[in-house]
Amino acid sequence: MAEVFVKIKDRQLGPFNSSEIRNLVVKGEFTQGDLVYHEDMQEWVEASEIDEFRNLFTEEVKRVHQKTVFAVGGGKGGVGKTVLTASLGIGLAAHDYDVVIVDADFGGANLHTCMGILEPDYTFYHFYSLQRESLEDICLETPVKNLRMISGACGTLGIANPRFHQKLRFINQLKHLNADYILLDLGAGSSYNVIDFFLAAEHGILVTTPEPMAIQETFNFLKMAVMRKLMRDLRKNTSAVAILEQHMYAEPGKMHFTMDDVINDVRQIDEIAAFSIETFLSSYHPRLILNMVHSNKEIQEGDSFKTAAHDLLSVDVEYIGFIEYDENVRKSVKELKPFVIENPKSKASKSLAKLVTVGLLQKNGWAGFQDRRRLLKQLRQEGADYPDARLQESDTICSVNCFYWGDCDYQEGGYPCPIRHLDPIFKQHG
Ligand SMILES: Nc1ncnc2c1ncn2[C@@H]1O[C@H](COP(=O)(O)OP(=O)(O)OP(=O)(O)O)[C@@H](O)[C@H]1O
Ligand SMILES: [Mg+2]
Repeated sequence: MAEVFVKIKDRQLGPFNSSEIRNLVVKGEFTQGDLVYHEDMQEWVEASEIDEFRNLFTEEVKRVHQKTVFAVGGGKGGVGKTVLTASLGIGLAAHDYDVVIVDADFGGANLHTCMGILEPDYTFYHFYSLQRESLEDICLETPVKNLRMISGACGTLGIANPRFHQKLRFINQLKHLNADYILLDLGAGSSYNVIDFFLAAEHGILVTTPEPMAIQETFNFLKMAVMRKLMRDLRKNTSAVAILEQHMYAEPGKMHFTMDDVINDVRQIDEIAAFSIETFLSSYHPRLILNMVHSNKEIQEGDSFKTAAHDLLSVDVEYIGFIEYDENVRKSVKELKPFVIENPKSKASKSLAKLVTVGLLQKNGWAGFQDRRRLLKQLRQEGADYPDARLQESDTICSVNCFYWGDCDYQEGGYPCPIRHLDPIFKQHG
């Protein structure tokens, strides 16, 4: 393809060569409706009218459709969303898929720490502040083969509550990342920010512990997500939205309606709107993972959640598995390593291998069993090569000279600092 001039949003740009054009397409910045200056015809024509461009768009559409975006959320804080995002990502990467894990917890980014990357070269801040154009530009390599990550930006006011157009820019570019699987680690809570990212991914994964408070918060999170989606889909239908709002903003604790009631109320005024609600609900199947499970009885909480979601929200949740409470997970977090890498033989790692192979990739039976074994073996190899965050030269040395020595509970002395994940914070304020 010869160099061409293009017009994007009425601005003439170029000349661009074929790889520059491809880049614009991949980033979603140049679309079929944009104009290209056609040398032979000596005029501006829509890109879709030129064969070479049409092929480029078809390839990109295929590429975008072949990838899967999972959002890991669930309302309650501290239930294991971040450690699971990292380990699910590693599990998929060990299956030979290209994976990107994304820290979308804008208020409390810590996925990089979980991976043992203390000072990421690029973070979401560089994208947010327009220092880097695309998400692909801020992708970081991780020590795990096939796995890259996008680090969140912590401690910068404003990023915790991105504006609508910033969210949109982020969401639009997610699909263009070079990967088979993209996993978003969401923050706690049910704010619109979190819910919007949960809905932006085509597949939601709810993570909860079996404790009643966590289950309740996760259920509320799901309810908010469903209602938000319906309100957005029906936004032009003011009477239907009024009914949804009436149910959504009901006094807490006095909300005895089911989704069937909502649909019936909507049907009274608009059959088509009621039908579109039913259509969405019948195709919406968020997945559920129970974490920090202590007993067989607790495992069943997942089924109870499923029943409640079906009966009250008319949503069929897919309960894809559980991870036991395992001290190895806590230990690995302190060691700044994902638990599947630090201890692939632990109970939690074996359950994770099953979650990835059977729950996400749906490989069942003997083939699935073999795959799980192969995965655990692969994780053992990854573990052997994984850099030890403790042994890095750059780590802070624990000593009486430390600014925080007087207040520090550890005061171990020597090498390295036991709270070395605070290293970047010390440096910032040093
Ligand atoms: N299966 C498990 N067994 C034991 N401890 C666990 C397990 N899963 C997670 N944890 C512990 O729970 C802590 C919180 O996990 P994590 O940070 O992933 O939660 P989170 O849901 O991302 O929290 P937040 O909502 O604040 O982002 C971890 O530091 C880890 O020690
Ligand atoms: Mg987290």
